Amino acid sequence: MNAFDVSQLTDLAQVAAQLAHQVKPGDVVFLEGDLGMGKTTFTQHFIQSMGVKEHVKSPTYTLFETYTHDEQTMVHMDLYRLADPEELLYLGIEDILNGHNIVLIEWPEKGQDILPSPQWRLQFSGNMSNRTLTITSQ
Ligand SMILES: Nc1ncnc2c1ncn2[C@@H]1O[C@H](COP(=O)(O)OP(=O)(O)O)[C@@H](O)[C@H]1O
Ligand SMILES: [Mg+2]
Repeated sequence: MNAFDVSQLTDLAQVAAQLAHQVKPGDVVFLEGDLGMGKTTFTQHFIQSMGVKEHVKSPTYTLFETYTHDEQTMVHMDLYRLADPEELLYLGIEDILNGHNIVLIEWPEKGQDILPSPQWRLQFSGNMSNRTLTITSQ
């Protein structure tokens, strides 16, 4: 377990770039923490660090967005609006979690019992001026 002070956006970007070097194909990353804590911002930096040039938008309404660079596909999910974990089955979660894609999931608690346990758990905590990101790999 590692805790990082990410009170500055530049720190958050740096941690995202570091993690992008450690994550392996097929890994699932949970991003946990309140609204506005930086989950989407972190994912944007992470995906850009993987070489993606296009704009990484928040998947709040679409539930997921897919990006590919150098034959590596990354899927960014935001389950905030999911009413029932079973909706994941209709979204094609089995194709998303195909063992090769890197899958980053905001609000994973909304997909309880359907989602596998993740290789990485990121917990965003603190307040507007003092933010901590705790990373656990398992
Ligand atoms: N570590 C940080 N330091 C400063 N501002 C941040 C940080 N993380 C996020 N923000 C800002 O907070 C706002 C909400 O962040 P966002 O990533 O959308 O949060 P979440 O996805 O957790 O709801 C954005 O305007 C973003 O620029
Ligand atoms: Mg978000």
